[in-house]
Amino acid sequence: MSEILDHAREVALKAGQFLKENLGSLTESDIGYKGYIDLVTRIDRESEEMIVREIGSRFPEHGILAEESARKESETGLTWVIDPLDGTTNYVHSFPLFCVSIAVCRSDEPVAGVIYAPCMDELFSAESGQGAHLNGKEIHVSGGDSIGDGFFCTGFASLRNREAPDNIGNFIRVLKRAQGVRRGGSAALELAYVAAGRFEAFWELNLSPWDVAAGVAIIREAGGKLTDMRGGSDYLRGSSILASNSKVHQDLLDLLDPEERTEEPKR
Ligand code: IPD
Ligand code: CA
Ligand code: CA
Repeated sequence: MSEILDHAREVALKAGQFLKENLGSLTESDIGYKGYIDLVTRIDRESEEMIVREIGSRFPEHGILAEESARKESETGLTWVIDPLDGTTNYVHSFPLFCVSIAVCRSDEPVAGVIYAPCMDELFSAESGQGAHLNGKEIHVSGGDSIGDGFFCTGFASLRNREAPDNIGNFIRVLKRAQGVRRGGSAALELAYVAAGRFEAFWELNLSPWDVAAGVAIIREAGGKLTDMRGGSDYLRGSSILASNSKVHQDLLDLLDPEERTEEPKR
């Protein structure tokens, strides 16, 4: 597996460099929409093409599940789950919080993950049983055990879909009790920050497997806890995820409601 993780690191570094070199170069015609608010750009697609090409040339028998379109059945049980640019909206606005997220899954379970944030030059990686690392140094989740002293992050995937649960009530309840809550705009990178002990926990609704698979592999090896927002195990393909240092997990589950929708306050 280490040969596979080494290749994942190499590919993530190469794609991250590509993202960084092209930051600020997008024109109007490079930017499109997928659904309500979901942006996709020429850079998302070109990053994915490069990553899929690099993986396919080395491991042609492996499967591919990549956000922008690439799909390939696995002949070995191993599948690469790829987000070629996580944080596209940040990227379009030259806000430097974005990353490449690449996971390797065996029968849908992440067994290795790499997340590279080129603007911070931070490479998070993990392989089952081998620990989690940031730029080669071992990392672990934080020791914080109270919401009041906690630092958290979350995201809002489908705000303009007025019928869907919107996570706003959750944000307000935690914000009123915590030291701080952030909305970074790159779910994969925020999961990596939980593994590195920067946040006590991250939660979000409606993410996709490519948003979370690498972060799940890294948090598991960093000693974290992962459930869906009901406390169940459906966080890789389900409608919600809660990733924490385990110490604050139950207190957060008591505050979070995955079904809640908040009326827009009157002006
Ligand atoms: C998005 C980011 C964002 C999260 C969205 C995701 P993308 O991924 O991770 O933080 O809130 O739900 O779709 O579209 O930039 O790859
Ligand atoms: Ca994403
Ligand atoms: Ca993406």
